[in-house]
Amino acid sequence: MGAVPGTNSNPRHAELHRHYPTIDYLRRAARRRLPHFAFEYGDGGSGKDDAGIKRNWAALDAVELVPRYGVMPSLPPCDIELFGRRYAAPIGVAPMGAPAIVWPGADMHLARAAQRARIPYTLGMAGSATIEQIAAIAPDVCWFQLYRVARNDHAVGFDLVRRAAATDCHALVLTLDVPVRTTRAREVAVGLGERLRPNLKMTMQIARSPAWIMALRKYGIPRFANLRSYAGAGASINDVIDFGRREMGGAFTWEEVAKYRDRWQKTFIVKGILHPQDAEKAVSLGVDGLFVSNHGGRQIEALPAPIDALPAIVRQVGNRATVMMDSGVRSGTDVVRAYALGAAAAFAGKAFLWGLGALGEEGPSHVIDLLIEETQSALGQLGAHTPDEARSVVIRHHGALRF
Ligand SMILES: Cc1cc2nc3c(=O)[nH]c(=O)nc-3n(C[C@H](O)[C@H](O)[C@H](O)COP(=O)(O)O)c2cc1C
Repeated sequence: MGAVPGTNSNPRHAELHRHYPTIDYLRRAARRRLPHFAFEYGDGGSGKDDAGIKRNWAALDAVELVPRYGVMPSLPPCDIELFGRRYAAPIGVAPMGAPAIVWPGADMHLARAAQRARIPYTLGMAGSATIEQIAAIAPDVCWFQLYRVARNDHAVGFDLVRRAAATDCHALVLTLDVPVRTTRAREVAVGLGERLRPNLKMTMQIARSPAWIMALRKYGIPRFANLRSYAGAGASINDVIDFGRREMGGAFTWEEVAKYRDRWQKTFIVKGILHPQDAEKAVSLGVDGLFVSNHGGRQIEALPAPIDALPAIVRQVGNRATVMMDSGVRSGTDVVRAYALGAAAAFAGKAFLWGLGALGEEGPSHVIDLLIEETQSALGQLGAHTPDEARSVVIRHHGALRF
C-alpha cells in the first residue's frame, strides 16, 4: 500500500515518484512510449474532440472542498468497508474490454497489483483473461463485469454468471449504459474499428516500441478470452472477436436485470446510472450497489459528468444500496471529492491504462500508490482523520444536477 510522499522507503518507489509524480505524467509518457494505435484505443472518447472526457475532468476539477485548520494533521488511514469486505482505500479498477491492446497481459497485471494493494479489480467480460484466471490471481478483490449477450435466452450470459459464481469472484457488475454502439473517432482512425487486422501503419508503430513487442511475445495477442468457449470449436481470434461484436449488445432491460439478480447470490451491482429514477428502479430490484458512470466519456459526449449527477443519486438511494462512481478520476483529490459528495468509492479506468503504457507491468501499482498517497494528502489537508470526516466539509459544487 502507498504512503504520503516521502514516507515510503522503497528506493524504486522514490524513483518512480520523481519521474511520475502524478497520473498526468504517466499519460504523457504513455503517449510517447506506446504504439500510436494502442494509446489511441485507451485514451480516446466518443464524439467531437473527446468533449465528454474533458467535461468529466472539468466537472471534477470544479468541485471545491473547504478545509478547517487548528487540528493536528495526521496521515489518515483510508481503508474502507465495501459489501462486507475491507479494502485499502475507496479506490478501484473499473472494468475494461481489451486493455491488452494498450499493454499485452494488462488484465493480469491490473489484477495482481489490485490484489497486492487490496483494492477492488473488476475484470471486463470483454477482457483478455478469463474469470477463472483472474479469480485465482486476485481472490480477495475480484469483481466481474457483464455485457448483454441475449441469444438463446441469455445462455452465454447465464453461463458466465455460473462460471463466476464457481470462483472466488465476489461481485457481479451489469453494465447498462451501452444500449447502442457509438463511434470513437480515434479508434476508427487508427484501424481498430472492426476486426483485429494489423495494417502496415500499425506494424511500423509496433516496431518502434520494443518494450511493447516484448510484452506481446510474453502474453500474446489480445483476445476475448471469456467468450472463446462459446464461439465454436477451433474459433480463431477474429472468429471470437466477430462473435463478441455480433452477440454483445443492447441495453439490459429491467426484467433482465431482475433475472440476473436472481441467479447471482453474491454482491450484485449495476453500472452506468445517471438518473435518480433509474437508481430507484435498480434499488427496487434488489441491487447491492450501483456505479454512477458515463463510461468514461466513451459513449456519447452529451452525457453529464457523473460527479454532477452523484449527489442527487446518493440522496435518492440513501442507505438502501452502495453508490460508487467513475469517469474522469485522475487523482486522489478526485477520489476525495467523490467520497465527500457521497460515493463509497471512486473507480478509474484510463488512469490505469496510462500507468501500463508508461511503465508496463509496474504501472498499475504506481497508479494505486499515487491514488492512495494523494487521497491521504487530500484528507490531511482538509483536516479529516478518516474518509468519513471528509463528508462534513463545506463543498462548493455549482455543477450539481437538479432533477
Ligand atoms: C479502454 C476502455 C475499455 C472499456 N471497456 C469497458 C467494458 O468492457 N465494460 C464496461 O462496463 N466499461 C468499460 N469501460 C468504461 C470503464 O469501466 C469506466 O466506466 C471508465 O473508464 C471510467 O472513466 P475513466 O476512464 O475516466 O476513469 C472501458 C473504458 C476504457 C478506457
